[in-house]
Amino acid sequence: MASAIRLAVSQLPELTRRLERFFPLSLKAYYLAQSVHGGQWSGVEFVVDDWPDFGALVYRPAKGSDGKHFSKFTAKNYGLYGESRERLTRLLSIPGIVNWEKDAIFSAVRVETELDALRDATGERGKLVDGEPARMYYREIDEQLPDCSLPDGWTATKIPQDAVGKLMQNWAFGTTEGAEEYIKQCLQFPSCALWDAKGEMMGCLMSHEYGSNGLLFVDKSVRRQGVALELAHRLQKAMLEAGRKNTFVYAAYSNEAAHQFAHATGFSVVPKGDSLRCYYTPASAKL
Ligand SMILES: CC(C)(COP(=O)(O)OP(=O)(O)OC[C@H]1O[C@@H](n2cnc3c(N)ncnc32)[C@H](O)[C@@H]1OP(=O)(O)O)[C@@H](O)C(=O)NCCC(=O)NCCS
Repeated sequence: MASAIRLAVSQLPELTRRLERFFPLSLKAYYLAQSVHGGQWSGVEFVVDDWPDFGALVYRPAKGSDGKHFSKFTAKNYGLYGESRERLTRLLSIPGIVNWEKDAIFSAVRVETELDALRDATGERGKLVDGEPARMYYREIDEQLPDCSLPDGWTATKIPQDAVGKLMQNWAFGTTEGAEEYIKQCLQFPSCALWDAKGEMMGCLMSHEYGSNGLLFVDKSVRRQGVALELAHRLQKAMLEAGRKNTFVYAAYSNEAAHQFAHATGFSVVPKGDSLRCYYTPASAKL
């Protein structure tokens, strides 16, 4: 019979150790579990189909002691990891693993394996709408990062909290409820902003609670001059200092600049790592 085990926070180090076996495909779950265990993140819980030898994992919204989710931005977010379609379908089909009566967002669902499992488990319960697929890129962060150099008068800092409004303008999810608060929370993790001699922010790049690079943006007036390269190298140095040994990024199929840039910064395509976001609406909502 199918079973599910909700992991205690004290079990997360063992979960991360076991997720290393599935690198780089399991990186998102790995860093998220690390952030939760380190007390830097909350509002998510991890459920496996077996313990300790699990083959399927669901991470899902968890409420705090006050009964509320800590962030409106992530309150509907689920993540999946499945060794095989069958194991993940079985876990997702157990009553209560996903709240199929409410809207849900399944992020970074791998086209290979996880998407089919999600469709199997959804069945007639509701509707899944797919977002644009993205390619996953991976890079180990080594000590051999190129030297950093800035144009005269430019400075580099972490992204300050008061720059978040500007980040929102350039982010596809910037108008989503709770997005600004979510990014502010993320800024406790490594990030980099570059400022010109007049104090204008000309580019930024941050890392998420789940280990990915994100929100890369360079002002149009200074593109193709190596500003993004500079950001990437500085961010990776900061990640290394924070104890991260590897990183990854998703580039939407249609964003050619992002693919070229990933290659230019030493990332390589993760085989079978293509993924997409799925938006779920329960069938009952259509009545
Ligand atoms: C993608 C982006 C950050 C690049 O910034 P940039 O400072 O111009 O990039 P760099 O000058 O450091 O480019 C480094 C390398 O990346 C690749 N690259 C960058 N922009 C590219 C483009 N528009 N088309 C093709 N390749 C590109 C090239 O290999 C380039 O090296 P080269 O100039 O010697 O050919 C910038 O175009 C941008 O902000 N775009 C909008 C936001 C976005 O798409 N973010 C990425 C989401 S994952």
